[in-house]
Amino acid sequence: MIKQHETDVVVVDPVSPDAAVIERAAELLRRGELVVFPTETVYGLGADAFQAAALEGIFAAKGRPLSDPLIVHVADDTMLENLTAALPDKARALARVFWPGPLTLIVPRGERVPHLATAGMETMAVRMPSHPVARALISALGSPVAAPSANRFMHVSPTTAAHVRADLGGRVPLILDGGPCSVGVESTILDLSAEVPTILRPGGVSLEALRTVLPDVRPPVKRASTSEETAQVAPGQLATHYAPTIPLLLFDGSEEAMRAAMLAELHQRLERGERVGVLLADADLEIFQTRLADAHKSQAFLASLGDAAHPAQVAARLFASLRALEETDVQVILCRNFAAHDLGLAVRDRLSHAAGGKIIQVS
Ligand code: TXA
Ligand code: MG
Repeated sequence: MIKQHETDVVVVDPVSPDAAVIERAAELLRRGELVVFPTETVYGLGADAFQAAALEGIFAAKGRPLSDPLIVHVADDTMLENLTAALPDKARALARVFWPGPLTLIVPRGERVPHLATAGMETMAVRMPSHPVARALISALGSPVAAPSANRFMHVSPTTAAHVRADLGGRVPLILDGGPCSVGVESTILDLSAEVPTILRPGGVSLEALRTVLPDVRPPVKRASTSEETAQVAPGQLATHYAPTIPLLLFDGSEEAMRAAMLAELHQRLERGERVGVLLADADLEIFQTRLADAHKSQAFLASLGDAAHPAQVAARLFASLRALEETDVQVILCRNFAAHDLGLAVRDRLSHAAGGKIIQVS
């Protein structure tokens, strides 16, 4: 059953959050309630990680299956050491460089962590976020906070408090509004329980950066299917996990080829009277605008995700841009792909999910 709430949205300073607001949020967590808080990646739907009943509330509010485990967030080294005695050396080495920050490590489960948080597995996901509001909240609770992204199950992760309210309004008592999240895609999940450290989900820390510490880190294995098998290897990493509510066609190829194919597709659909959203890069925008016939201007919603040479910028705008198109009446989204370097790997992953795993290769 889903608990009904009057949802309070409270604005907090993202750099030095008001102590009284944080204390109010921490008190809710102590009482087993849920609190939504900003992190540097996306907003999280938090509960006291040691209260199993509170964790149940997370799954209910999101509509998330219990087979999909949660990330446990810590604020400092002491909390981390208390959480798990058996931290691998590799985890310590990575933590020194990337924590606090957008990296989640799969390590042996701490004894006090309820099975509900780990979906019954003997490993757990742990992360030390860098966002001052997240850190202040976890510190005030004095205990780790379990938190998935604060969206309804299968929806795009929220990067603003307004996104959260749209998905979870009426289902949580408090949303801390710290403004837009700076990274904009979720943390990188690195499996350290495997023989070779393997990325399960590319995210805010790039493969290149991880390899400066662990040169043998393996990139994510392609997961184009939604088979049971895939679900067991990497729970929650199904191909359709990040689906927006509108079908998205993803084009991949050279800059020239992507533009040509997207312009042709756009033209055809507009001719048929469809309303179309188009996600581009800065350099494409003017070209598309000039190629659009006046008669079609009201049917097309063009937006840029940023400078294609700066994948971090594209990542930061991605989810908000997808959600913005959901607020229009477009019937389909045409989207270009981006190069795989740095945060581009995460961008490609989320776009591929949004496209249901199908990519239109053009040459
Ligand atoms: O940036 C983030 O990671 C955000 C913020 C709030 O920290 N959190 C987030 O959580 O994206 P969530 O629950 O939406 O995604 C966490 C993923 C899930 O897909 C889950 O399957 C995976 O982490 N996961 C959790 N524990 C795991 C484990 N023991 N082994 C493998 N995957 C695990
Ligand atoms: Mg999520």
